[in-house]
Amino acid sequence: MRRNSTVYLYELAWILPSIAIPVGMLVALIVSAFGMGIHLPGDAGRVDPTKVAETAPFNRPGVVELGPARYEVHMVGQVWAFEPREVRVPAGSTVTFLATSKDVVHGLLIPGVNVNVMLLPGQVTRATARFDRPGEYLMLCHEYCGLAHQIMEGKIIVEPKP
Ligand code: CUA
Repeated sequence: MRRNSTVYLYELAWILPSIAIPVGMLVALIVSAFGMGIHLPGDAGRVDPTKVAETAPFNRPGVVELGPARYEVHMVGQVWAFEPREVRVPAGSTVTFLATSKDVVHGLLIPGVNVNVMLLPGQVTRATARFDRPGEYLMLCHEYCGLAHQIMEGKIIVEPKP
């Protein structure tokens, strides 16, 4: 009798968490979707990957000045280059990158600032960083994207304040 009740307790110790964990995940999912409003990216975050060259803002890749010390970079990744390859901003600028890919999955990593994102065909990626220190910053593709992946790079030149 005693042995039987021990086995029952062990079973209970496995069964209860295996019910509680999925129920907890379901509650977390419902709270994040309906309570916190976290959803999959909508159409506003998408672009037809076959029409990137015709779709604004990616039809004119480059740097746009939004205001004092605020810039937006419209960037396209493709095998095996970033467009624009070079970005020039004054020190102290806050730069928002809007980026996508024309072909395969690329990455955008800027060592020294907080930019580490994937560029997915059909998806617009957004990342913002502040460049306080003048100098050159590398832009690197850090998702393997084919034969010449290792040459896919660009640079950000942060000029000293005038
Ligand atoms: Cu693009 Cu690796």
